Amino acid sequence: MNSSALSAPSTTLPPLFALIGRTPLVALPFHAEGVTIYAKAEFLNPSGSIKDRLAASILLDARERGLLRPDSLIVECTSGNTGIALAMVGAALGHRVKILMSDTASVERRHLMRHFGAELQLFKADRGYLTGIEMTEEMAAADPRIFLPRQFANPLNAQDHVEHTGREILEQLPGPIAAFVSGYGTGGTLNGTSRALRAAHSDIRIIAMEPAEAAMLSGESPCCHSIEGVAGGYMPPLMRDVKIDWPEKVSSADALVMTQRLAREFGLLVGTSSGANVVAALRTAAKLPADARVVTILCDRAERYYSTKLFAHNNAT
Ligand SMILES: Cc1ncc(COP(=O)(O)O)c(C=O)c1O
Repeated sequence: MNSSALSAPSTTLPPLFALIGRTPLVALPFHAEGVTIYAKAEFLNPSGSIKDRLAASILLDARERGLLRPDSLIVECTSGNTGIALAMVGAALGHRVKILMSDTASVERRHLMRHFGAELQLFKADRGYLTGIEMTEEMAAADPRIFLPRQFANPLNAQDHVEHTGREILEQLPGPIAAFVSGYGTGGTLNGTSRALRAAHSDIRIIAMEPAEAAMLSGESPCCHSIEGVAGGYMPPLMRDVKIDWPEKVSSADALVMTQRLAREFGLLVGTSSGANVVAALRTAAKLPADARVVTILCDRAERYYSTKLFAHNNAT
């Protein structure tokens, strides 16, 4: 395991932790576009998403600081992937986990969390993440056994991407990197990874992918889109410090087409935000010199989207 919180000897940690992080960086040659995109395969983390990193980092840190006790209950508001990751890491560490989730998150995610033994509470999606975040704060104020990872504000979320995701990319892709492209949910990935990459490459472009239907960085109102996991109707505190060169808007339709293309042309079973990131990466590459190397993130696995538009073409037959 390579989380920043892992200063403890590895023998004291459950075996799960050896599986988190150190994901491959794959070169994807897009022949039609004449561009190669470099993609960090975060969907290979054990619960299937980039969120395994923050779950391990935050819970191990809390354990080391004595904030997690045997009777603790871990409570978090999440679009799904963080809930799955916390449920998995909580199970490995022997802690109870309760997840508050918008009622629009895919049913597969709910099944996975329950499979790891977590308890779920759904809330109406109308007010985005803010509703769920307020609910978790009220619960913690009323019960001292509750530990809140606070993925939206916790600096460890971003710091782990500085020390691991970013450093791994630098090791895996020596030489110049022209741009890094990522969507934002909590902003942890963009914040931390961009800081690590910019420290090594001062002229790198940092591009925030956002759904065209919820392009908040572009000054538009958040609305309904099909790119689960990003732009949840709320601009998170971790996004405030990110120095973004430009936002790249991607429609849900374009994201879905690219996600299917990644499966059919590259055999990559990834979720819709990965397709959206690759669309934004290709558009970024088109704005840069021909040899510019653009890096992006394949955030999660496709299997948690069977009930969504991503697999609608299969449901018709
Ligand atoms: C599928 C997916 N893609 C992208 C992201 C964005 O990650 P971050 O929270 O680090 O901004 C998330 C997380 O919310 C996600 O679940």
